[in-house]
Amino acid sequence: MDFYVQARREEEEKEAAKETNSSKHNGADTSVLRYKMEFDNLSDIDKARWYKRAKLDKIRYRREMATYEAPIDDTSSTPILAIMGRFFPFSSDGIPFAGATLIIKEAQNSSHIGEDGGTGLNVWDGAMLLTRYIEKVPNIVKNKKVIELGSGCGVLGIAAAICGCKQIVMTDLSYALPLMRTNVDRNKSAWKDNIVVSCKECDWFKPPNVDELLLDQKCKTIESNYPDVILVADCVWISSLIAPLLHTLKQYTNESTEVFITYQQRGREAHDIFMEGVHELFHVVDVDTLEEAGLVKPDVFHLLRCKRKVS
Ligand SMILES: C[S@@+](CC[C@H](N)C(=O)[O-])C[C@H]1O[C@@H](n2cnc3c(N)ncnc32)[C@H](O)[C@@H]1O
Repeated sequence: MDFYVQARREEEEKEAAKETNSSKHNGADTSVLRYKMEFDNLSDIDKARWYKRAKLDKIRYRREMATYEAPIDDTSSTPILAIMGRFFPFSSDGIPFAGATLIIKEAQNSSHIGEDGGTGLNVWDGAMLLTRYIEKVPNIVKNKKVIELGSGCGVLGIAAAICGCKQIVMTDLSYALPLMRTNVDRNKSAWKDNIVVSCKECDWFKPPNVDELLLDQKCKTIESNYPDVILVADCVWISSLIAPLLHTLKQYTNESTEVFITYQQRGREAHDIFMEGVHELFHVVDVDTLEEAGLVKPDVFHLLRCKRKVS
């Protein structure tokens, strides 16, 4: 069905581009659902044609992956394990999610912003993996106080709001906040009014107090204390950021906070340093996404569920 939706979207976008006065995004909110309904109404023969196309593309992807040789990172001589392109589908025109359509925009990252190079202006596979995971297992966040670290464009935090968390505080360095806030505004009709959503600065090198993050000016009823859940997607890739990230996690958790950390392994060093540190602080479970949520992920993606060790 995804192939059909994509082909129909491209077709309509081409049409819209021809009309000078067309406003593409007015229709985008509902287009994915509309295409899905169109698909449901296709004849079995037509549906089979689309299924065959999807199957052939899967075979193509597997074939390319089987012959793919990881390039060597010249600076450290360790192999880069990251997969090519995106593994989890993402479209800035609309992502079907839990019956809604997420509209998440990225930004051109033309200048080097901050120590990490401005990676928060794009959506990374880690965010999509955790987004799909909470879609399948929404109870992880439902009615919970949630903090997300390194939220970037905000797709995961927005997904948590749609899944009915009580509060979500998305955080990142200041450069990432304007785009994140715009994405929150674009999607705010998709979650209930009583859900408290905010975007705040949190630099792992000088993390604000957890009370400060959880207190909300608009809604004094949200008590402070520790979050129930912390989400972290694709924030493990530069070795020098691991210690500040772990320090922030230590500061923001107590023994009942559940921490979900996902990342695509891009080299040995950052991964090894992170694994050592996270196991020191937390009880760590390597989540089997296929068994728990029916989600296929290549081994190069890690999804960890962590709880603080009693100190
Ligand atoms: C690879 S991106 C992942 C973004 C998002 N979670 C996703 O998966 O699409 C890493 C994120 O970490 C953020 N980051 C880098 N250094 C940071 C720091 N010192 N404190 C807080 N966030 C930081 C970046 O701004 C960026 O948003």
